[in-house]
Amino acid sequence: MSAPATRPPTAAPYARHFADRYDTWFGKPSVTSDTVALLARLAGSGSALELGVGTGRVALPLSRCGVRVEGIDASPEMAALLAAKPGGDRIPVTIADFTRPPLTGHPYDLVYLVAGTLFELDTQADQLRCFHAAAQLTGEHGLFVLDAFVPEVLVAAPQEPDGQVIPTADGDRVVLRRSFDRAAQRYHSHYRITPGDGSRTVDLDVTFRYAGTGELDLMAHQAGLELRERYGSWSGTPFTDGCAYHVSVYRHTR
Ligand SMILES: C[S@@+](CC[C@H](N)C(=O)[O-])C[C@H]1O[C@@H](n2cnc3c(N)ncnc32)[C@H](O)[C@@H]1O
Repeated sequence: MSAPATRPPTAAPYARHFADRYDTWFGKPSVTSDTVALLARLAGSGSALELGVGTGRVALPLSRCGVRVEGIDASPEMAALLAAKPGGDRIPVTIADFTRPPLTGHPYDLVYLVAGTLFELDTQADQLRCFHAAAQLTGEHGLFVLDAFVPEVLVAAPQEPDGQVIPTADGDRVVLRRSFDRAAQRYHSHYRITPGDGSRTVDLDVTFRYAGTGELDLMAHQAGLELRERYGSWSGTPFTDGCAYHVSVYRHTR
């Protein structure tokens, strides 16, 4: 990819002000290896583009599997951290809005969006534009993969009264509380982070616009894509009633 065609959106506060803590607080060590293994299998020896590549949690190990990986992100701070890591120089990153990507360098064999990033897009129109972008960026036999919560399950899940403690890579304590606005099809995640070194507490809020699997499949259909397979996790377990999460693989409509 090259220079962005449009100005990137303003990145979320966590990606602007706390990019250097992202891996520690939100690094998801328990799922990253499964994520990389599944994406590597789908990409084969081909090329991949990560939408919202961040600090390279997935892109870097995927590139070590022999996949040619590129990324797009709105946050220069996140991209700078990726570039500074070993192997970061092999992953070109374009600073742009991934729903309006510059269409150079494509087609990719695989375009993917992980860590629930689709729901960071604020409106249905933005999410639909993301599906159209993925369809444009992939070749005829290319795949678009995303992961997301299943809203019906997430909304119904009992909230822990003191919040959910997120495991972190160091002594910082991250506690998550979610609140739902079902009428607006949104939820708000509030993270309270108490650093282990005694420095000041950080409060972070992220708003998500959620969509169920049926709505996502309809967006895919409008973009000329169809569901090829859906898993209940990155380790490839079946997607069944009660799954709180899904990994969906779309291909071009046959
Ligand atoms: C939750 S982080 C995930 C980062 C990385 N994919 C990972 O799994 O660790 C989401 C990333 O997407 C980026 N992002 C969100 N919306 C975007 C948009 N419309 N265009 C470009 N980047 C975006 C954020 O700046 C952030 O780096």
